[in-house]
Amino acid sequence: MTPDILFSKPFHAPREMENLARVVHGDHAHGDGDFTRAAMHRLTNITGARAALLTTSGSHALELASKLLDLGPGDEVILPSFTFPSAANAVALTGATCVFVDVDLRYGNIDPQQVAEAVTARTRAISVVNYGGVAVDFDALTSIADEHGLALIEDNAHGLGGTYRGQQLGTFGIVAAQSFHDTKNVHCGEGGAILINDPSLVERAEIVREKGTNRSRFLRGQVDKYTWVDIGSSYLLSEYNAAVLDSQLESFTLIQAKRHAVWNSYATRLPVWATAENVRLMEVPADRRHPAHLFFVQAPDHEYQAALLAHLRSVGVIGTFHYIPLDSAPAGRRHGRRLRELTASQQFSDRLVRLPLWAGMTDGQVDRVIEAVSSFRR
Ligand SMILES: Cc1ncc(COP(=O)(O)O)c(C=O)c1O
Repeated sequence: MTPDILFSKPFHAPREMENLARVVHGDHAHGDGDFTRAAMHRLTNITGARAALLTTSGSHALELASKLLDLGPGDEVILPSFTFPSAANAVALTGATCVFVDVDLRYGNIDPQQVAEAVTARTRAISVVNYGGVAVDFDALTSIADEHGLALIEDNAHGLGGTYRGQQLGTFGIVAAQSFHDTKNVHCGEGGAILINDPSLVERAEIVREKGTNRSRFLRGQVDKYTWVDIGSSYLLSEYNAAVLDSQLESFTLIQAKRHAVWNSYATRLPVWATAENVRLMEVPADRRHPAHLFFVQAPDHEYQAALLAHLRSVGVIGTFHYIPLDSAPAGRRHGRRLRELTASQQFSDRLVRLPLWAGMTDGQVDRVIEAVSSFRR
């Protein structure tokens, strides 16, 4: 029997084993060793962010962001309902309230108009996600944030290498979160990073990430002892993970080329089927570059989504839906409120089908996915 084509498969970079062996046989396996430093350097080179600190996950990068902004009870953070729960957890864990707004139906990105409507005297931040690595409307969102003195938090878990009007994603928020979970373009099993674009936050971020201590300053010889100076946690990535991450980042260009080849095959070979079936293929505005993190199609209705997913599975192709809107989720109702009925988020979620996309896909596997999708009829 032909094996299923998985939805996602972690990429293995050429130098992973060599790097890992150096950590295994070396004398530094905890965080902030040579591979961590090298990976952070690669991240600032790719993005142009002022600083990058590796973290244990993208979720922890978002939590660190909340701590840096001193969010707490009584504060409100505006975020899209259609996103991963980590963005909402990062707000709710501080006691602040999530205010959910809708996304647009085309890209699944936060709707700036609704963001403007959701601002109150309690609003402290806008937390946005570049869905599928396609940038949100940063011009509109930055101007709302500036007008009301709000911080912009950028969840760039999908977006490493993407751009908005020529500028790298991850550099628009005061801070941005990256994820290196093994479903991401670049991964180390579990891992993440916080990108810091406001220089005044760098030192505090180092402290919060290091259990609230000034150990980073101590290691640089800037203080002669380190001590507890703030409330923090342990968000450092182990050097084992950093060893893998560094080799992945070293292969970033290769990974991206392979993923773009798959993405481009879908984009160029599915339009005839999509038009005939009234399905909308993922689009990217001309002023944005996407990093080929995912490829989705939008079914004409919810029944079609279920039927297409079932059909793909029946022929051994694993497609999948994505986020269930947070405003109607049990925890979303407890820890947040919504601006109004968020019909676009529900519709976007109800109609989305993501296709397999990973760097190691063969031409034959891509052909099989295209054949499976385009043989489906309502
Ligand atoms: C948009 C988004 N943000 C954050 C996360 C959380 O990242 P992590 O799994 O590294 O904690 C994910 C996870 O897939 C995500 O899709």
